[in-house]
Amino acid sequence: MTRKFYPWLIALVVLVVGILAACGGRTETPSPTVAASPTVAVSPTVAASPPVADGATLLQERCTVCHTLERVESARKTAEEWERTVARMIRRGAELTEAERAVLVEYLAAKYR
Ligand code: HEC
Repeated sequence: MTRKFYPWLIALVVLVVGILAACGGRTETPSPTVAASPTVAVSPTVAASPPVADGATLLQERCTVCHTLERVESARKTAEEWERTVARMIRRGAELTEAERAVLVEYLAAKYR
């Protein structure tokens, strides 16, 4: 009687141990380590002084905001007069940096004089 019962007991013990082991294993869930926030590389792309466009481009881009180029093309001015005109346009709202202003005035003085 006892001999016949043994395999079942062993099977039961193995089963119970197996279940316990499976459950026990689950308690050891490794907490997901939160990765360190990726460092955002700030690449300084802005150059110290941006390249200045040529006079024709500046005229096309900055001087057609309020009026057509007709005003410019019909005008005949000396370098000094263009300097004053461009300065006045800047006061009105034309967007030109110092370097761009110089390039544009030179271009205007050569082309529309
Ligand atoms: C913010 C608006 C604005 C922008 C930008 C602008 N203008 Fe003008 N421009 C005006 C106005 C308003 C007048 C008419 C009143 C006057 O002559 O001041 C005018 C008139 C002119 C005239 C005719 C009067 C004159 O003095 O011969 C010329 C030439 C001229 N602009 C050139 C330019 C050039 C070159 C640029 C680019 C640097 C430019 N403008 C950009 C507003 C602007």
